[in-house]
Amino acid sequence: MNGTVELIIDGKPITLPTFLGTEGEVGIDIATLRSKTGAITLDPGYGNTGACKSAITFIDGEKGILQYRGYDIAELAQKSTFIETAYLLIYGELPNAAQLAGFSGMLTENEMLHEDMRHHFEGFPPSAHPMAILSSMINAASSYHPNLIHAREEHFPCHAARLISQVRTIAAFSYRKAHGLPSIYPKTTLKYTENFLHMMFSYPGEDCELKPEIVKALDLIFLLHADHEQNCSTSTVRMVASSRANLFASASAGVCALWGPLHGGANQAVLEMLEEIHKEGDDGTKFLNEVKNKTGNRRLMGFGHRVYKNFDPRAVIIKEQCDKVLGQLHKSDPLLDIAKKLEEIALHDEYFVSRKLYPNVDFYSGIIMRAIGIPVDMFTVLFAIGRMPGWVANFKEVMDDRDSRISRPRQIYTGATLRSYKPLAERA
Ligand code: ACO
Repeated sequence: MNGTVELIIDGKPITLPTFLGTEGEVGIDIATLRSKTGAITLDPGYGNTGACKSAITFIDGEKGILQYRGYDIAELAQKSTFIETAYLLIYGELPNAAQLAGFSGMLTENEMLHEDMRHHFEGFPPSAHPMAILSSMINAASSYHPNLIHAREEHFPCHAARLISQVRTIAAFSYRKAHGLPSIYPKTTLKYTENFLHMMFSYPGEDCELKPEIVKALDLIFLLHADHEQNCSTSTVRMVASSRANLFASASAGVCALWGPLHGGANQAVLEMLEEIHKEGDDGTKFLNEVKNKTGNRRLMGFGHRVYKNFDPRAVIIKEQCDKVLGQLHKSDPLLDIAKKLEEIALHDEYFVSRKLYPNVDFYSGIIMRAIGIPVDMFTVLFAIGRMPGWVANFKEVMDDRDSRISRPRQIYTGATLRSYKPLAERA
């Protein structure tokens, strides 16, 4: 049903069309609201604003449902791989064998950075956060492919594969640079996630051991992060793309948006919070009291979500994987015990229950990454690698939409009204 709704504004009725999504959600199309009434909608934080129609990812936050192109996340996590899922997100269907081989081949062909780009890494101080390096280097990579700027539709598959492949190479190089280690080139014989681990942890002349359980766990983390509807970074990518900026520029902006601790940066913030609680010898109780009393302006990082008000299905899968990986590696981690304790208390505490705050994807992912040797400041970089197919898919959706317009929100002005300029001598 694409129907209409009647609103009364300033006592006058107006009729607006409604749009029904395939999963039953209703949107009121307010595109003509201002021209009909002079009013605009005000929704800071966009909690009630649909910025676009999209056919990529569906979330029902009340029921804890997440689907990529109609496939449930739990089924994909169990049966698919990150690269197959990336193809699904970008092109809309699971690939057949030939399509998957073609996509993988294109990733391999594009995995090397232009050799001159290696020198860009020298310009960063050792203290540079890898997210700063990642966003800068993605943008820098665009300058090695000038045809990106006026890319035509037929160039898209190559640019998309190049971005997805090279983001992993850039990420590994930035880690090696930060630790004063020689860069390790990708190996054409390795698959996507294996190749990333190889570039992170091998030495010239000595390849690291690629344990299948570690490869599987990291591949799963990438897959679970691959897309998540109109979150802050994806909306940023779409916003930048709406000005017809190129794919790399749009993705680089997405990295910056992801970096913040309320978004992708939460995985680093969770680990830092757990380390701090551990260092203080607290079992989590004191910390949670501080959070609830709002004394130190602190939050339980890795908890809460704008959309999920029941549970985050990704968190359930990650928690299970966390126990599995630590078991397989015969490791125990006191931070995991603290995380479990925090979760247990919070899930039964009035403060968290009444606000519908549950663990999100970041609550346990850092413990897995730590177990496999990823340094804390690389956590959000790994999130960005995982999210790249989602950004690429959203970029493509913007570009393919012949009706798409530049994103340009309005505002309600609350500043000074018109006044006259005072010469300097007359000002108090
Ligand atoms: N710890 C303690 N209190 C919280 C938390 C938290 N993690 N999250 C929200 N609250 C409280 C707020 O203080 C507020 O309380 P109040 O009603 O007394 O003022 C209430 O819950 C609502 O919070 P909002 O900030 O309005 O919720 P919003 O939907 O804007 O924020 C967000 C969502 C940013 C995820 C928030 O829950 C948060 O900061 N979580 C911690 C950071 C985090 O884990 N981010 C990762 C999100 S997942 C992702 O992006 C990959």
